[in-house]
Amino acid sequence: MQKAVEDQPLVLRFENVSRRFGAHTAVDCVGFELRRGEVLTLLGPSGCGKTTTLRIAIGLERAGAGRVHYRDRVVDSPAERIFVAPEQRDMGMVFQSYAIWPHMNVFENVAFPLRTRRTDQGVVAAKVAAILGQVGLTGYEDRSGMQLSGGQQQRVAVARGLIASPDVLLMDEPFSNLDAKLRDQMRAELKILQRRLGLSILFVTHDQTEALALSDRIAVMRDGRIEQIGTPVDLYTNPQVPFVRDFLGQSLLLQGRVVRSETGVVRVRLEHGQVIDASGRNHLTSVTPDMPCLLVIRPEEMVVAVGPEAAVAEPSNTIRATIRTLLFLGPDYEAVVELPQGQLASLHLRREAMWQEGQAIHLGLPADKLQIWDRQKDSHDQHRPRLHVAREG
Ligand SMILES: Nc1ncnc2c1ncn2[C@@H]1O[C@H](COP(=O)(O)OP(=O)(O)O)[C@@H](O)[C@H]1O
Ligand SMILES: [Mg+2]
Repeated sequence: MQKAVEDQPLVLRFENVSRRFGAHTAVDCVGFELRRGEVLTLLGPSGCGKTTTLRIAIGLERAGAGRVHYRDRVVDSPAERIFVAPEQRDMGMVFQSYAIWPHMNVFENVAFPLRTRRTDQGVVAAKVAAILGQVGLTGYEDRSGMQLSGGQQQRVAVARGLIASPDVLLMDEPFSNLDAKLRDQMRAELKILQRRLGLSILFVTHDQTEALALSDRIAVMRDGRIEQIGTPVDLYTNPQVPFVRDFLGQSLLLQGRVVRSETGVVRVRLEHGQVIDASGRNHLTSVTPDMPCLLVIRPEEMVVAVGPEAAVAEPSNTIRATIRTLLFLGPDYEAVVELPQGQLASLHLRREAMWQEGQAIHLGLPADKLQIWDRQKDSHDQHRPRLHVAREG
């Protein structure tokens, strides 16, 4: 049985780290902790500051404010005038698309970081042999970079990242240029390798599926800030802010107004007049009659039925929908359905049933799966102004 991640020693810690480029705050008061054996992912849209955060970790970029700890020392702290150069930090890096040099063989690719440090030949040979053994590439020393499969390239890249015995491996969108099938395969292989070797990884991606699949914890970033940190399941089932809810997976959002609230059940009138009871997580700061709210449910929590009676235990919590488009995906169908409010929603339908475009269906909304959000908070979050607060010296 593996020791729980929380009991493991800290490897890397960011404390209120900020970094500006001119007037633009690329990294804004970022704080997180990475523990031994953990995969922590920075997830967010392009331009939100992921790469800059990673470059600050390894020392290719300096923090403007805050503090970075690695192993048992501070490696960057402008206020204390501390900055440890990248070559003295000994962190491992895996680059986008692995950056294997095709004209070099596996041995030379892996040995490369040591070559630049003028390490003794015998030590290089022993280290490369040991690390190739760990990643399962013993016997591939003389293979050229061009003769490697995708999986082998990934293992060479990881081996190269690990050759200087770092405590953390940094990976910046390593799968982003791979085709979809290879990407899925590499994801699973990386997870197996990471678990087997107990690697600590700071991973960066804009792909939420990748983040959910690979990570022990995810920090969702937006505009240089961390919006929420948690396990994938925690973030998916209990998002604290609209941005996290909408960035991770899909949700059906139904607009309505509160009718009343009693013993954990909030009754809501939807825009087309139908009344629905919700008892899932409550994201309302206070519940007052007539306040604008949103009922939110993950599509897979809805119960799809042809007749209204079968849809859900509480028949009144059933809304009508019409199938507008059916996409056959293989394992199931993706359907775009039209709701009573005219709203379109996407959901997956079982392959076994005979679905048709134009068909009327019923969507059961289990009360305990319906979250209630404050609609005002939602619109505030979507249009949140960027504040340029001068935090750096
Ligand atoms: N060296 C730089 N000079 C000026 N602006 C930069 C520099 N590096 C990054 N930025 C800006 O900082 C923001 C965050 O960039 P980046 O960390 O690369 O985001 P991400 O990796 O999440 O896409 C972007 O707006 C980017 O244009
Ligand atoms: Mg980037």
